[in-house]
Amino acid sequence: MNNEYINMIRSKVDIVDIIGERIPLTARGKNFFCVCPFHDDTNPSMSVSREKQIYTCFSCHATGNVFQFLMDYEHIDFKEALKYLGDRVGIDTKNIQIKKTSSKYDKLYEAYQLSLKYYQNNLSSKEGKIARDYLANRKITDDLIKEFEIGLSLDKKDDLTKLLSSKSYDLVTLNQIGLSSDNHDIYHDRIMFPLYDVSGKVVGFSGRIYKDNNQNKYLNTKETPIFKKGELLYHYHIAKEEARIKKSIIIMEGFMDVIRASSIGIKNTIALMGTAMTKEQLNLIKRLSNHMILCLDGDEAGQHAMLSIGENLLQVGLEVKIVMIPDDDDPDSFILKHGKERFENLLSSAINYRDFKIQTLKDKVDFRSDEETANYINQVIEETAKIDDVIRREVILKRLAKEFDIGYNTLEMRINSFLKENQSKEEVKIPFQNQEKKNKYTKAFEQILFFMLNNDWVITQVEKERVMFPNEVMRSTCNEIIYYYKTYGEIHLADFYTYIEDKEKIKELINTILTCNYNETTNKEELGEYFNCVKEYTKNQEIKRLTNIMKKEMDPLEQAKIAEKIRKLRLGDI
Ligand code: CTP
Ligand code: MN
Repeated sequence: MNNEYINMIRSKVDIVDIIGERIPLTARGKNFFCVCPFHDDTNPSMSVSREKQIYTCFSCHATGNVFQFLMDYEHIDFKEALKYLGDRVGIDTKNIQIKKTSSKYDKLYEAYQLSLKYYQNNLSSKEGKIARDYLANRKITDDLIKEFEIGLSLDKKDDLTKLLSSKSYDLVTLNQIGLSSDNHDIYHDRIMFPLYDVSGKVVGFSGRIYKDNNQNKYLNTKETPIFKKGELLYHYHIAKEEARIKKSIIIMEGFMDVIRASSIGIKNTIALMGTAMTKEQLNLIKRLSNHMILCLDGDEAGQHAMLSIGENLLQVGLEVKIVMIPDDDDPDSFILKHGKERFENLLSSAINYRDFKIQTLKDKVDFRSDEETANYINQVIEETAKIDDVIRREVILKRLAKEFDIGYNTLEMRINSFLKENQSKEEVKIPFQNQEKKNKYTKAFEQILFFMLNNDWVITQVEKERVMFPNEVMRSTCNEIIYYYKTYGEIHLADFYTYIEDKEKIKELINTILTCNYNETTNKEELGEYFNCVKEYTKNQEIKRLTNIMKKEMDPLEQAKIAEKIRKLRLGDI
């Protein structure tokens, strides 16, 4: 019943609009194309079909209907995607019941939620006095403590392990999920900062020392199925919303920086929790906004990191600006020292990444040496050639000519050769689409399934011919298509997607089929050929099976019987 409401909402929106509002689309033939946001790419490998109301990426095989797109792109769950679209078309989704897809990690999330409450309690208890003083001293107010759900682990106790054990968590599990180690609490006497996944669920902790001792400043949860430090970004779930309003994302190093910025109302921030950015993090960030502001620490490590991260952000087509925090401060200490207004000034004076890079080139050059000077000038020109704006290029070159008293023409000649080089680099693109080699039978089975999805009459034929698919996933896919067709009287691919929402294996297979360029339509004769191919496959399988039995058979008479059967099969008599 509910699927009817869901399908109705889906049919009232156009996937082309929804995707087009987020990613630039280009029309080509009856489809639209764009750069796929679900893998690292700059080629337009994703196609969006208005007719079918689905998208397919021919490179990473991401495929689905408008709900799937929103869920993956906005990192929301099905219910949120439904609400978003419902609001758009004026349908109330409050009462639509959705099968709650229970995750095999539910128990894990729950353990982290319990731990969070436990740590929060500690901080507000009598035993939390020194920690509260420490936080107050660092100007972390009660409001911030609440907002960022900061807590405290207690000294030399195994309270958390005991607490969770009493709630039916066994010690092995607690050790595995990073909440205990050797059957004892991992965290002792640290201020606990919860770490969230991209949807805002607590999946780990970072514990900070707050008394003078020689331990590591921060202790992070070990990697678990739900906590992969390189695949999350602190504050992502909040920044996601803010980025829409502010139209930019500010990237910082530490979560203390993010918390401080939040205290002065700047919330479109995320923290890398270090100075490295992984590919996964890059993929997450690029979905938030086209405008990135790098605001790492003012020290050398921070500057260095901004150079390499900036380059990576540019490569995926984002605009990058750099904020340079003076005097080795970090955003946290800068805001504390100088206040909101000066930090905002700093943000608005952010400079373009290329200009920043060109500035840093100057750092270690000894201008008394002709060789170093020439080398420097060459590097500046090389960087300038990467700027996509003739005027800006000319401004930089003119300045350079003046500063070093070199003829403008010389510099122009040099930049032209760099420009030419860049152009030829762009032209050599690695062809994507590496369709793995499949044998003709797999292709035939997949093609038949694809025909079924696009032509109702094929479904009837497949049923009549009792086509036997070679494996469990294909069989259940075929059964689901038949069942769906009988229930709804037609197959609309986009709605079929909703129907198989929680059937991972089937979804995966359909995604593969949809991205393999199979034919959409067929005729009786051609379909017959595919069916023959299937029969041939079934026969070969049967021959294989019988041959195996024959090999094991001891009785020569029985053996002869089986051999005869095989012979007949080969001749096509059975
Ligand atoms: N970090 C870490 N382990 C460490 C040090 C740092 O995981 N031993 C991560 C933390 O996530 C931290 C970020 O790197 O937020 C930045 O480190 P740092 O600049 O040293 O932290 P600050 O933000 O300055 O923290 P504080 O002000 O509390 O010293
Ligand atoms: Mn700091």
